[in-house]
Amino acid sequence: MLWTHKILWIATLVSAFAFLGMTVDSLHRMSASTHADQLSAQVIEGKRVWQHYDCNDCHTILGIGAYYAPDVTKSYSQRGAPWLRKFLENPAAMYPSGRQMPNFHLSSAQIDSLVAYLGWVSRIDTNGWPPSPEGVTPAEDAQRAAGGELAGSKIYLAQGCNACHTIQGSGGTIAPDLTHVGSRRNKSWILAQINDPRRINAQSVMPSFAQLPESAKQQLVDYLDSLK
Ligand code: HEC
Ligand code: HEC
Repeated sequence: MLWTHKILWIATLVSAFAFLGMTVDSLHRMSASTHADQLSAQVIEGKRVWQHYDCNDCHTILGIGAYYAPDVTKSYSQRGAPWLRKFLENPAAMYPSGRQMPNFHLSSAQIDSLVAYLGWVSRIDTNGWPPSPEGVTPAEDAQRAAGGELAGSKIYLAQGCNACHTIQGSGGTIAPDLTHVGSRRNKSWILAQINDPRRINAQSVMPSFAQLPESAKQQLVDYLDSLK
């Protein structure tokens, strides 16, 4: 056999083994990152409800579905269970203006299953995708230096605070109007509310935003404090 043939065979075999090894390793890791072992009956029921109402005619999960409405892969970890429950009961109450999701008049059992399903989905290890938090990019961080207030109001909108709160007549009505919040609350109080709404009101439907970067929270606080 020619020496070039030998090299060809050896190289082919070495890469075949390498790829085989990597495939076995990926399959091995797959179960840990999909946490398929945590599929409870309720999670499976939630998936059925999701399919029954064709939720992915508008939404994507892990990028699969339609692009009309937001991707909901991480909705559970970003919004929290109380927010999702309230939203699914009556979507229009959360987003009173703009594009609206139809009200499917889901039963509370269906909502519980959907929330369990979205919770399971949000725990899939997606390697940091989608980038979190929505709307806070390095460019916006830089913008902070130029004008903190503008950045704060953008984060306010990107995080969906306006789904529940109103500022100067625009936004939802299920939570206090924040038009003059700066004259009744101080900065540390506002920060505490953003970090842990259930510290003051155990029944609060406001999600915790503790996971936001400190700089983003500071911008939100500065913005709200400026609303006198
Ligand atoms: C006709 C399109 C449509 C269908 C079908 C639909 N949705 Fe939506 N959904 C929307 C729109 C639009 C929004 C965003 C509202 C906004 O931003 O103003 C939304 C928002 C959401 C959100 C909030 C996402 C977030 O993190 O802000 C969740 C959760 C959600 N939908 C779940 C569902 C579920 C569960 C179903 C099926 C039972 C469903 N949707 C079916 C259009 C739809
Ligand atoms: C799901 C609805 C909801 C969302 C989304 C929400 N909040 Fe709230 N928020 C509430 C409710 C309800 C209260 C009233 C107190 C309570 O129950 O915790 C409240 C209270 C507050 C207060 C205190 C107001 C006062 O005068 O006492 C501040 C400040 C606040 N929210 C800021 C925010 C910010 C900033 C965001 C977004 C990062 C946000 N909220 C998102 C529901 C919401």
